[in-house]
Amino acid sequence: MVAFQRTCAPCIEQRKQWSFLSSGLCVYRFCPQTFLRAEPIQHFSMGTYLQSDSIHTELIPPQSMSDRDFKRFRNFIYDKCGINLVEAKKTMLTARLQKRLKAAGISSFSQYFDYVTGRGASNGELVQMIDAITTNKTEFFRESAHFDYLTQTALPELIGRSGGGLKKKVTLWSAGCSSGEEPYTLAMVLSEFAEKIPGFDFSILATDISTKVLKTAIAGIYEHEKIQPVPMRLRKKYLLRGKGDRKGLVRIVSGLRSRVKFLRMNLIDEKLDISQPVEVVFCRNVIIYFDRPTREKVINNLAKHLIRGGYMFMGHSETLNGLIVPLSPVAPTVYRKTK
Ligand SMILES: C[S@@+](CC[C@H](N)C(=O)[O-])C[C@H]1O[C@@H](n2cnc3c(N)ncnc32)[C@H](O)[C@@H]1O
Repeated sequence: MVAFQRTCAPCIEQRKQWSFLSSGLCVYRFCPQTFLRAEPIQHFSMGTYLQSDSIHTELIPPQSMSDRDFKRFRNFIYDKCGINLVEAKKTMLTARLQKRLKAAGISSFSQYFDYVTGRGASNGELVQMIDAITTNKTEFFRESAHFDYLTQTALPELIGRSGGGLKKKVTLWSAGCSSGEEPYTLAMVLSEFAEKIPGFDFSILATDISTKVLKTAIAGIYEHEKIQPVPMRLRKKYLLRGKGDRKGLVRIVSGLRSRVKFLRMNLIDEKLDISQPVEVVFCRNVIIYFDRPTREKVINNLAKHLIRGGYMFMGHSETLNGLIVPLSPVAPTVYRKTK
């Protein structure tokens, strides 16, 4: 790494390299031998650092990841969040972690591994690394047949079962909610349902492991293109168009936002912080990133919080076939808790 070969004056004989630490937009360099902090270096643009006295810029060449480092990251990521990175994902992982190396001012994957797994992990880098490696693709009204099934079959059945069911709130959980499109779709669909069924009430819990997507979800602000799948009638009712410097953006109305509670949650944790039983779980396009034992563990974890007879909706390419779980199929990718 030519760019980082400068030495700290007290250690000049040992020719120690600088280490780099970032905080917000500022990158500091310090000597790992003496821990003497040098002046802040501004993060200038992708791969370029401009020293504050403007004497020179330093270019960081793109890194490649050794097989050893890939295996170390793969095992670490699997332990922390269950995501199973097969060999074919190496290029993707390299590209995603490259951004973290730059942000942290670290020049090799091996140093970054020590940083994120070692003492430095207390600086929140693990959370940032998980933000960088998760795949958060989602959209409003994704796999829309599920919302029809929910309002035409599942909710009427749940209401009927509890003798009208209208005294009790129905709780739904969007597990792996990404940036909020799924739980806000649920909120729109359920609000419409509630208008037709007097006394029906609901609340939505939405959880994800990534803090980055949760921030977007809580703000409830989206680019206009993202709302294309939302029917026009619902757009008018539940979305506000941005004006001035917010032109091109839309925001979910506050009445709908307040229906959804967002929480950071890791679905592979043994004990999930769910305070009440839920009637419906949407866990779509999440277990696709897990291997079989983790899928089984996560589905059992979720099912613990589902009432008997409650519904679980999975993504279109996800099946629970062959998993030992207390759920039976009732429609394509829709399951019910049997025990
Ligand atoms: C592809 S998105 C799916 C979003 C939405 N459910 C949908 O179908 O449109 C998968 C989400 O699962 C989250 N995720 C991955 N591993 C997780 C874990 N161990 N615990 C909680 N969420 C996780 C990711 O952060 C990501 O936002």
